[in-house]
Amino acid sequence: MRKPIIAANWKLHKTQEEATAFLNDFREKVKYISEVEIGLGPTFTSLETVAEGTKGTGIKVCAQNVYFEDEGAFTGEVSPGMLAEVGTDYVIVGHSERRQIFGETDRAINKKIHAVFDHGMKPILCIGETEEQRADGKTESVLRNQLKIDLRGLTEDQAGEMIVAYEPIWAIGTGESASPEDAQAGCKFSRDQVREIVGEQAGDSVRLQYGGSIKPHNAEELMSQPDIDGGLIGSASLDPGSFAEIISITEELYK
Ligand code: 13P
Repeated sequence: MRKPIIAANWKLHKTQEEATAFLNDFREKVKYISEVEIGLGPTFTSLETVAEGTKGTGIKVCAQNVYFEDEGAFTGEVSPGMLAEVGTDYVIVGHSERRQIFGETDRAINKKIHAVFDHGMKPILCIGETEEQRADGKTESVLRNQLKIDLRGLTEDQAGEMIVAYEPIWAIGTGESASPEDAQAGCKFSRDQVREIVGEQAGDSVRLQYGGSIKPHNAEELMSQPDIDGGLIGSASLDPGSFAEIISITEELYK
């Protein structure tokens, strides 16, 4: 059985001091959790704080972005080796905010995914359609096209070890999550695409997260879907109480 993973994407929130305060509360709240893998995604400047503050807990450290080159004249970028050095386990790649605000392309995302693997970390690849694409009935073709390029050149083992987060853009930060049926359909479709693009075994093993307005009140119905293996959580992950509650709800489902 696939182990569910619930990860926080803090986006541009929390100083080191705030991250430390979060951890002091959060660690206690999740110390009995055994069936759910937990990830925390701070900004670059708080990665080391989170890595230090989660030592020995099993909580995974997730970066929110990376560049694909090891070093060079790339002002403002951070390399995969630098992330690995401070204790990063996972790297969120291709978040819709990176794609839309910073113009990230699927080709660059594919290079980032390879770079992450080359440095012993694992990617959390985000895919998803806009409101308009959804209204035009293009959800499946959008997901297929993203995955086709993003997964190019990956081995079965690599694709099987990564995480794909289906995050419909219209559900992010809106308070309106996808229905459990739509979230399940997006994750199932994405898994089937991994099967087609990379292989059967990769499709069986790859973990699919849903992301977009997950809150304690809708976590149970979303996390109980057969092809949803966890969640990527934005605003509800900023508060240790609500983030821990979502994790506990998922733990109950897998016990
Ligand atoms: P919200 O949970 O705030 O909708 O954000 C989801 C998200 O973008 C996670 O990556």
